[in-house]
Amino acid sequence: MSKLSTTASRLAPLRRFVREMTQLVASTRHEESQLLAEGGQLLKALIADDNWLPERFAFPSLERYQQYLLHCDPLERFSVVSFVWGPGQSTPVHDHTTWGLVGMLRGAERTTNYAMTADGRLTATGVDVLQPGDVAAVSPHIGDVHAVSNAHSDRPSISIHVYGANIGAVHRHVYDPEKGSCKSFVSGYACEVMPNIWNSGTAV
Ligand SMILES: [Fe+2]
Repeated sequence: MSKLSTTASRLAPLRRFVREMTQLVASTRHEESQLLAEGGQLLKALIADDNWLPERFAFPSLERYQQYLLHCDPLERFSVVSFVWGPGQSTPVHDHTTWGLVGMLRGAERTTNYAMTADGRLTATGVDVLQPGDVAAVSPHIGDVHAVSNAHSDRPSISIHVYGANIGAVHRHVYDPEKGSCKSFVSGYACEVMPNIWNSGTAV
């Protein structure tokens, strides 16, 4: 088998996921609970297989966690991102302002969830640890403020995220619960290229 067709068949799970998510967002429009339930099942199927993510999009950085864009819907109704955590790396407390699904592909990640108290302060409400195959959801309706870290201090971890927008371009917020401060940010992406999920040709 040629290298091109090998790459194309390796990426088949991601291509299938992109196709099925596109059908889902087109059919459910803005019904968030259905998107989270059915999108969560699609993501669970994607992460059940850990052979498709190209090494280029699984590469940790010594400096900070990496967000590699794997696909963005042309109408920016959803985006798919690989989050690659180096040992011990973590995010600040942040929000998303849209729905999101997190599927653990490799390693493990620890999430500390936050909620706003009646007097307007952010307080931690609990900790979740995702293991390979687990899927978690966030949204402004069910809670979307958290801090995330690699649960491993000696190896990388990778999770696949799906958001209801082009998440790298969304204006969001980071919080300092101790100081009660809040700052706007736009995350962008770590890489200028994406996996070519459509390349099924063979070189002659
Ligand atoms: Fe997050």
